Amino acid sequence: TPEKVSTLLLFGATGDLAHRMLLPSLYGLHADGLLPDNFKIVGTARSELNDEQYRASAVEALKEHVPANFYDPKSALVFSRRLTYVCLDATKPEGFKKLAKTVDPSAGLAIFLSTAPTLFKAVIDGLEANGLTGPRVRLALEKPLGTDLASSRVINDAVAIAFPEDRTFRIDHYLGKETVQNLLALRFANSMFEPLWNSAHIDHVQITVAEGIGLEERGAYYDGAGALRDMVQNHMLQLLALVAMEPPADFDATSIRDEKVKVLRTLRPMRPDDVSDHVVTGQYRKGAVGGDPVPGYTEELGKESTTETFVALKAHVENWRWAGVPFYLRTGKRMAERKTEIFIQFKCVPHSIFASRGARTQPNKLVIAIQPEENIRLLVMAKTPGLDREGIRLREVPLDVGMANAFADARRRIAYERLLLDLIDGDPTLFVRRDEVEAQWQWIDGVRAAWEGAGLTPKPYGAGSWGPSAAIALTERDGVHWHD
Ligand code: BG6
Repeated sequence: TPEKVSTLLLFGATGDLAHRMLLPSLYGLHADGLLPDNFKIVGTARSELNDEQYRASAVEALKEHVPANFYDPKSALVFSRRLTYVCLDATKPEGFKKLAKTVDPSAGLAIFLSTAPTLFKAVIDGLEANGLTGPRVRLALEKPLGTDLASSRVINDAVAIAFPEDRTFRIDHYLGKETVQNLLALRFANSMFEPLWNSAHIDHVQITVAEGIGLEERGAYYDGAGALRDMVQNHMLQLLALVAMEPPADFDATSIRDEKVKVLRTLRPMRPDDVSDHVVTGQYRKGAVGGDPVPGYTEELGKESTTETFVALKAHVENWRWAGVPFYLRTGKRMAERKTEIFIQFKCVPHSIFASRGARTQPNKLVIAIQPEENIRLLVMAKTPGLDREGIRLREVPLDVGMANAFADARRRIAYERLLLDLIDGDPTLFVRRDEVEAQWQWIDGVRAAWEGAGLTPKPYGAGSWGPSAAIALTERDGVHWHD
């Protein structure tokens, strides 16, 4: 069993992710009594702050970002005493020297890099030069880990010099989401789905990650990335891998990640000839989301751009289980609503005994809603009550499991709570292994190269819509409707 660490060292401690997610998550763990008694959190960033100023700014962040019904001022104050601060410029040695006096790597240290990846190498060199690496030190890395396979390898190589793979924790925050983990429970803690989970019974799979938000002042990063690299390369391919993987032998880091990587490697490479009926990209124009008018992408960005804010893809997992079953993926910013969902459509009944009585049967569907609501819904056919003198009428009705009701007393945690606790405990199961990231990039690079070869440009869509009409045509030509 890996040992717990006694200190978390947080690079980028004054940044947006720290304020919105990391400090609130650590507070959540503290408030639930899950942090070891003497556990310390050392923040570092470039701002010149002393411990008291950093603690005060952390308490402000908690007030703003912890749900009001969970925020307790006394507890926040006690939590803030775990925090200290070291001012550090990653490109200069002084800060690392100060750090080396503050933290003791032999007592177990987790380092969380929430900084621009351009600084990763400088940080790792600084840590190495000052004795802040070693067998009891683990490293967590936030995305973006590169912009393609080659640049991700450069980052992973730089990391590997100081941190072997078993002490490198790559974050994909979707894996920290309760409902994403529930996919594994649904598939492997029930006996009724797995026998049907294959091309003999499943017609197709849809994965949607729609967002209502736009650029959110992340223009500099987002415009260089686009929807494919920002969302599909990581979160959506992880969701796909969890849906499509073979049953692992055990719930451990090696078994789970071995199965995921196998799926990622079986994704059929995109060819330029496939692009026209397999890929649609889009960019939002002005419109309205939830009734509020919003500007278009280039207005928000303040310059012209051909970056895609929407992408829809038809993917194929080429193995025995999934041959011939399309996986339709789509994600976009400024869409009609926030919705992350996995939709599985089963095949039609082989013969309808009701057809002669005028009734139509629909195929069964399983809807795994991840956010904003968490629920699992199985759509089944039922007879509409009546005497049927005019014919039988069948209707689709949901068998519904709302997670919020089923587990009413459980607090809804931020994904990072789980991931930070696993990092402290040294459990890498919900972190992404190097071979997975590389398989993800390999496929994504192929998609980009194919669409560039085919001269694909993003089609306009109105903010607040479900994307360009071509995305609807992408599935309709297969006789499939997006589940909206
Ligand atoms: C991030 C992307 O990884 O995920 C963002 O960089 C996106 O662009 C975010 O908004 C979505 O996360 P969530 O948890 O809100 O679905």
